[in-house]
Amino acid sequence: MLLLCARLATSHFVLLDPVSLGFDDENEGVAPCGSFNATDRTNVTNWPVKGAAIGFLTTHTNAVFEFNTALLSTPNNWVPLTKDLNQTGVGQFCEPQIPAREDWKGKNGILQVIQHSPEGLLYQCAAIKFTGGPKAATPSACFNDTGTAAIWVGHHH
Ligand SMILES: *[C@@H]1O[C@H](CO)[C@@H](O)[C@H](O)[C@H]1NC(C)=O
Ligand SMILES: *[C@@H]1O[C@H](CO)[C@@H](O)[C@H](O)[C@H]1NC(C)=O
Ligand SMILES: *[C@@H]1O[C@H](CO)[C@@H](O)[C@H](O)[C@H]1NC(C)=O
Ligand SMILES: *[C@@H]1O[C@H](CO)[C@@H](O)[C@H](O)[C@H]1NC(C)=O
Repeated sequence: MLLLCARLATSHFVLLDPVSLGFDDENEGVAPCGSFNATDRTNVTNWPVKGAAIGFLTTHTNAVFEFNTALLSTPNNWVPLTKDLNQTGVGQFCEPQIPAREDWKGKNGILQVIQHSPEGLLYQCAAIKFTGGPKAATPSACFNDTGTAAIWVGHHH
């Protein structure tokens, strides 16, 4: 946490769950994955279509987030996974049970998280694989810091 905070010299956000493709403070505004290779498969997290967690650290008091996914076979075709999330409060935030499309079970995918920050759009991605089985257990490091909250709002697009 301290290390992450120290690295967040300029106000940004860092994807913590699932394992991100990487964080580069300077280049977080580079679409679609904050300057990282969207099709990199070094660290793939299983994503039960019944539900899995998205957790991040944010330094903005309020920002709207988009959660999108693409299949690895069509990595430029980003599809909204959820409505947009209007999140308030600084620190760690976790949405523990986000389901995905049933028909994507067994497919390789990419999760993209976009923060609509005061500095513009910021991007983080993760390599995921859509799986069957029960909802994923919430990672212990995925939680809401005191004073954070969020509500789902309409799409931007
Ligand atoms: C991105 O990663 C994929 C999969 O590892 C690789 O095939 C491709 O060459 C990489 N692209 C770039 C621009 O590094
Ligand atoms: C993959 O993710 C795990 C869990 O966060 C981490 O410990 C490990 O260093 C990562 N490996 C690579 C190659 O990024
Ligand atoms: C998000 O929430 C903030 C704080 O409650 C509010 O001021 C803002 O209008 C909301 N934005 C959207 C897009 O819902
Ligand atoms: C964090 O708060 C949101 C609503 O503000 C809630 O939907 C979510 O379940 C909470 N996360 C955890 C891990 O309890």
